[in-house]
Amino acid sequence: MNAQRQSKTYGHLAVHYRNRNEGHLAARLLREIGFTECYSMEQPGEGGTFFHFVIDEQADKGTDRIFYLLCMPEVLSALYAEIGKRLGVGTADEAAEVKALRAAQAEDPEFNFHAAIVLPSLEELEEMVLRVQKLADEDPELKGRVKVTLNRARPGTPEVDARMDASPVFGNVTRHTYGPNGVQVFVETDLICGGPLGDNWAFEFDYVFPGYKDNILNAPSVEAEVAIAAKEHAA
Ligand SMILES: [Fe+2]
Repeated sequence: MNAQRQSKTYGHLAVHYRNRNEGHLAARLLREIGFTECYSMEQPGEGGTFFHFVIDEQADKGTDRIFYLLCMPEVLSALYAEIGKRLGVGTADEAAEVKALRAAQAEDPEFNFHAAIVLPSLEELEEMVLRVQKLADEDPELKGRVKVTLNRARPGTPEVDARMDASPVFGNVTRHTYGPNGVQVFVETDLICGGPLGDNWAFEFDYVFPGYKDNILNAPSVEAEVAIAAKEHAA
C-alpha cells in the first residue's frame, strides 16, 4: 500500500438501451431507481439520445458514480437480431442453450453480467423497492418490462433477523444473500442491453448492516470465500 498515492476508481459504466424509441423509458427507470440525470444530448451518428446520469447526486467526488445510457449502435442491434434469429429466441424452436440461460437467470438474477450499487440506508432501499414493485405491477409503460427480486440477510444475527421480519419488503422473502448481515435487491429490465442475448440487464442494490465483519457485498474477504464455497457445496 502506498499512502501517498490516490487509488484508481471506476470511471463510468456505459450501457445501451435496446430500442431507439425507448431511451426515455429506460431513462425514466433510472430515475425511479434513484439515479439523477445530469444532461442529455443527441448521440452522434446514431440518432438516439445519450443520457448522462449519476447514481447519487450527493456523490460529488470521484468518477465512479457516472452512469451513461446510450442508444444501442446499429451494428450491435444487427448482431443481437442475428443471434436471436439463429438461436430461435422466443420461438417454438428456441435453442436448448437459450432455455438453460433463461432458467439460470430466473433462479439467480446475478447469474450473468450485472452492476451492483451499495446504499447507505436500508430505509432508502426499501422505499425504492416499494416504488419499483408498484411500477412493475401497475405502470402502463413499465409493467412487464421490470422484474424485482429480493434476497434477505442470511439468518443468524438476531437483531438483523428481527429487522428483516419487520421490513415492509423483506418480511416474507425466502431467498437469501450469500453471507449474513446484508441484503440484495435485483432490478432486471429488457429496456437495457445485458447478457449474451442483449435483452436482460440486471441492477443490483445492496445494503450491509454496519458493525459486523465485512462480507461479500462490501469487501473481498476470507469470509466471502468461505460463503461462496458453502453455497457451491450446498448446490
Ligand atoms: Fe452481484
